Amino acid sequence: MSNYKNTETTLIHGGISIDERTGAVNIPIYQTSTYKQDGLGKMRGYEYSRTGNPTREALEALIRDLEGGVAGFAFGSGMAALTAVLSLLHSGDRVLISSNVYGGTFRLLSKVFDHFNITYTIADTTDLAVYESQISSDVKAVIIESPANPLMTVTDIKAVAEVSHKHGLLVIVDNTFMTPYLQKPLELGADIVVHSATKYLGGHSDVVSGLAVVNSKELAEKIAFIQNSTGGVLGPFDSFLLIRGIKTLAVRMDRHVENAEKIAKLLENHKAVKSVYYPGLESSQGYEINRRQAKNGGAMISFELHENYDINTFFESLELVSLAESLGGVESLVCHPSSMTHASIPADIRKKVGITDGLIRLSVGIENIEDIIADIEQAIAKSERK
Ligand SMILES: Cc1ncc(COP(=O)(O)O)c(C=O)c1O
Repeated sequence: MSNYKNTETTLIHGGISIDERTGAVNIPIYQTSTYKQDGLGKMRGYEYSRTGNPTREALEALIRDLEGGVAGFAFGSGMAALTAVLSLLHSGDRVLISSNVYGGTFRLLSKVFDHFNITYTIADTTDLAVYESQISSDVKAVIIESPANPLMTVTDIKAVAEVSHKHGLLVIVDNTFMTPYLQKPLELGADIVVHSATKYLGGHSDVVSGLAVVNSKELAEKIAFIQNSTGGVLGPFDSFLLIRGIKTLAVRMDRHVENAEKIAKLLENHKAVKSVYYPGLESSQGYEINRRQAKNGGAMISFELHENYDINTFFESLELVSLAESLGGVESLVCHPSSMTHASIPADIRKKVGITDGLIRLSVGIENIEDIIADIEQAIAKSERK
């Protein structure tokens, strides 16, 4: 364990930061599926790369140290990480989920795990009394996103973890939007943290990957068994790319957030903008709670334009900012949650939780702020219906 006092240092030196054999300051890509054994039962620590691979192991140790957990696990995508975590559950169990979560998480529960009689309920994790009333005897786990995708709803992780533990629930936090640089859910009482590392951790939109970190030896043994049994592991090259991305997380994140704070303020006062969702704005729903549990509001903003603006024209007019799925890369991206990231949520549920057809989600990149603002301004101007 190389857990330094400051996360900026752990990002670069956490886990296994040096190749012991050669002293290489970057962990080599051990591009191998298997390992020679010196005799029956005489292995040199590795037997087969689904079970263990030194490059993946370095990444897993790094995310373990960054989240302050007992063990880390790397998977081929965020959804594979969540699938492994949900595989801890049994037929008859129910999961509570925050009212707006990534559409893929909703789909995984409603269209895959329901085949195994593992059911879900959309819960109000922002209201403790309502939340506690939703915990029935079959509920065994809760999945929290804070801020949640795409309405940036903030949940008091510590408070929800306390109530959940009173009822014996496993507390799972998807920390994709915040990263361990801005928020550490295990310190707030969560049992498991999951990430779509495809996003800020990778940071360059060049790798699809997922991570999970657990807070106990018992959970570590169970997830290790599930990871090896179900096999959704991250390959050595992608593990290397992720380690490389993670090293610069702090400097990238600082710039992402600096830009996002400026854009959120601009949108909040813009005549074309009907509503802005950003936990870093004092006027936002969860500003105080987020300030307590996270370093700042992150770099994801959602907003709606007034009715006299055409969002199709807005998307088509953007030149620098790309219309694309995903988030958290160095480049600014926008998406239309109701037809893209959250299309797998039925329209009536989207409406109920507030994901309107006019909602625009912006992942603020690290380009020069003047250029991002100029692009957004010109696209808004072109989209006004005359
Ligand atoms: C909050 C959140 N969790 C999980 C996922 C799924 O991750 P992946 O696309 O790496 O499978 C996403 C993807 O957009 C996400 O935004």
